[in-house]
Amino acid sequence: MDVESTGVSDRSTKPATAARIYDYFLDGVHNFPADREAAARVVAMMPSAPAMAKANRAFLRRAVRHLAEAGVRQFLDLGSGMPTQGSVHEIVQEVAPESRVVYVDIDPIAVSESLDLIGDTGRVTAIQGDMRQPRAVLDHPVVLKTLDFDQPVALLLCAVLHFVPDDDQAYGLVDQFRDALAPGSYVLVSHGANEGADASVTSEEHSTIQKVYNQRTATPAGGRTREGVARFFGPAELVDPGIVWVTQWRPQPDDPTDFADDPRLSCVWAGVGRLP
Ligand SMILES: C[S@@+](CC[C@H](N)C(=O)[O-])C[C@H]1O[C@@H](n2cnc3c(N)ncnc32)[C@H](O)[C@@H]1O
Repeated sequence: MDVESTGVSDRSTKPATAARIYDYFLDGVHNFPADREAAARVVAMMPSAPAMAKANRAFLRRAVRHLAEAGVRQFLDLGSGMPTQGSVHEIVQEVAPESRVVYVDIDPIAVSESLDLIGDTGRVTAIQGDMRQPRAVLDHPVVLKTLDFDQPVALLLCAVLHFVPDDDQAYGLVDQFRDALAPGSYVLVSHGANEGADASVTSEEHSTIQKVYNQRTATPAGGRTREGVARFFGPAELVDPGIVWVTQWRPQPDDPTDFADDPRLSCVWAGVGRLP
């Protein structure tokens, strides 16, 4: 893939994207001046934003390891973001090297950087796609070549559905993806909360943070309640401990210690469900 076709050229003038703001919060190296400036505005309102991103990423690592250990060998990661240490394919292939992973992101730079990291393995790949167009993702030739939808697939929706604030669109798209999955498939969701659980952030500050994403990136953001997040699972049976604050989902000793005293301050709901 050449530089021009990926839009990687002239990085210093790139507008901010959600993928690269998040990468900055994770101490990543795949971010540009506009991303760092937007991130600084979020941090000014919500100083714990980088810790929230790290807590979310730690959940993703724990949950995909759990799924791999439960026997899942195929992963469709929507809104996969920039490649980072402890990527989904690295974790699941530690458990089962034959595992297949397709990363999907709307951000072309996230996709090209992911492809660089992955190399050409045949089992792991990345495509540019918009999850708001489920058919285009599900029918993508690379997706069809890599994943067998007659077998269980884990659908990963980690910190991405809050970038689809319209309820009809968000529930509709997840229904379409879920309907494409075989029995025994899994749905993983983490999602920004909006019940004002973060006592340190007022609702006015929450809306200012949303404005940063709405004005500076192509992906507006909005949180949901725990009940709102539960709707994404449809008929899936929730794996223990259900939908909980992100740090409470099967915590491990090597997790980041932020929010240990009050998990609500993570401001992120998380859960995993298995389709009957
Ligand atoms: C906060 S990052 C989460 C990355 C990763 N899933 C994780 O949890 O560590 C959100 C990602 O969703 C992507 N995204 C936002 N809207 C999207 C859409 N409609 N379709 C695909 N990706 C999208 C962004 O580009 C960004 O990379």
